[in-house]
Amino acid sequence: MAKRLDGKIAIVTGSSSGNGRAIALTFAREGAKVICSDLQKSARQGGYDESIDIDTDELIRQEGGQALFLKADVTKAKDVQALVDLAVSEFGRLDIMVNNAGIFTGLNGIVEETEEAFDLTMAVNTKGVWLGCKSAITQMLEQNASASSGSRGKVINIASIGGLVGLAQEPGYCTSKGAVVNLTKQLAVDYAPERININAICPGFLETAMVRPFLEDEELNKGLHDQSPWPHLGNAQDVAYAALFLASDESRWVTGSSLVVDGGFTAR
Ligand SMILES: NC(=O)c1ccc[n+]([C@@H]2O[C@H](COP(=O)([O-])OP(=O)(O)OC[C@H]3O[C@@H](n4cnc5c(N)ncnc54)[C@H](O)[C@@H]3O)[C@@H](O)[C@H]2O)c1
Repeated sequence: MAKRLDGKIAIVTGSSSGNGRAIALTFAREGAKVICSDLQKSARQGGYDESIDIDTDELIRQEGGQALFLKADVTKAKDVQALVDLAVSEFGRLDIMVNNAGIFTGLNGIVEETEEAFDLTMAVNTKGVWLGCKSAITQMLEQNASASSGSRGKVINIASIGGLVGLAQEPGYCTSKGAVVNLTKQLAVDYAPERININAICPGFLETAMVRPFLEDEELNKGLHDQSPWPHLGNAQDVAYAALFLASDESRWVTGSSLVVDGGFTAR
């Protein structure tokens, strides 16, 4: 049976944990060849990921898929470009770029937030996405549109509901994600005529390593559940299914959108 991403070539940054790992596994299960990338190859302990003792690229191969790993720090242009170069040298093109790697340095007001924490958050969450878009779009402009979707390529930026609304005690993080939401719109305008789809996903609070410390704090955990209209919090697979839609041929006329995946958190 045909799979939704048969023959597509994808890069996923931050693929050793949480959302990135779920996206890489889901894409591979739907037939994509995946370049996995992170600061570390080994799956990050402390999340809620399945088969946590097996690296993401290895797990894909064990399931019969195709995957490679290349270490890359998304704050470094050279590293990000090396990912795109690898996709082209190994597989001939780049169909899907998922700019997922991100950090959260902790809850605090702007008075307490250090300049270092702000700079690091912006470097990873915003500049990292900008670099990923720049290298991916440069390559996508070089290649023909795929016959099945009419698209030259698809860029998916993992933002956050913190890029749409103010989340208490997250000044740097919200700044970084707001920038990703608007960069996504800006690029969509420039590259729609070139048939490149550029979209963002805005997840709410998910059970990943990033949010685990808050879920383990009884008061914060209760607060998150009380604020969620849906009876339970989301997980990385919910984000991966949204990414699958944005990567697939079905989203051929979707560009510049920010797909909210938050159990209704921001619908109030
Ligand atoms: N977990 C949530 O509730 C939530 C909500 C909204 C958005 N997000 C976003 O989803 C994305 C993934 O987060 P997650 O929850 O899976 O977190 P996570 O901490 O489980 O995984 C993030 C991964 O990114 C990698 N990474 C960090 N800095 C990097 C760098 N400079 N270069 C390359 N890789 C780097 C880490 O090593 C880690 O494997 C992030 O952009 C995050 O902001 C998460």
